[in-house]
Amino acid sequence: MKHIAIFASGTGSNAEAIFNHFANSNVAKVKMLVCNKPGALVIEKAKSKNIPHYIIENKQKLEADEFINFLLNEKIDLIVLAGFLLLIPQKLIQAFEKKIINIHPSLLPKYGGKGMYGKNVHEAVLLNKENESGITIHYVNENFDEGEIINQVKCEIEINETVDSLQKKINRLELKNYPVIIEKLLLR
Ligand code: GRF
Repeated sequence: MKHIAIFASGTGSNAEAIFNHFANSNVAKVKMLVCNKPGALVIEKAKSKNIPHYIIENKQKLEADEFINFLLNEKIDLIVLAGFLLLIPQKLIQAFEKKIINIHPSLLPKYGGKGMYGKNVHEAVLLNKENESGITIHYVNENFDEGEIINQVKCEIEINETVDSLQKKINRLELKNYPVIIEKLLLR
C-alpha cells in the first residue's frame, strides 16, 4: 500500500476527488492533508473523511528538518500538490526527488509561472485567442510550473467561451483525470 500526502491551500475540489478515489483502494491511502491556511475549505473536506491535517504556514516550516523527518517517518511515497500556493523549497524537493507532483490548469509551458493561477490563467488563454486549453500534471522542481511533464489532457475552447465556463470545464477535466493519473504513477 502506497502512502499519499496531499498539499492544498484552497477549496479542495481536487483534494476531495483524490480522497474519494482512494477511499477504498488497495493501491494507495491518503495519509494526510498539509495546508498552509487555517480555515481553508479543504480542511473541512479532509475532516469529513477522517484524514488528519497539519497546518504548515510558511516556507521555513516546510523546509524544517522536523517536518521533512515527519513525512519520511510516515513513509510518504508521493506528495500531491492540489492548489498549494507556497513554493516548495529545495530541501523538500531533494528529500522527495521525483516524488512531488502538481496539477496546473493550462497546457504548460504555456500560461505557467508566477501569478498564473486561478482565473488569471483562463483570462490569459482567452485573451490570446487560443483554440485549446487543458491541464498539465508535472513533477515539481524549484521553479513554479517548470518540472518535467507527466501528462496533459486537452479541451477545446468554444466560440462563446468565458473565463467562468473555461474554469468549470478545466475543473471537470482535473477531477476526472488527476486521481487516475496519480494511481497510474503509483503503479509504475
Ligand atoms: C486547480 O485549478 C489546480 O489546477 C491548481 O489549483 C486549483 C485548485 O483548485 N493548481 P481546488 O482547490 O482543487 O478546487
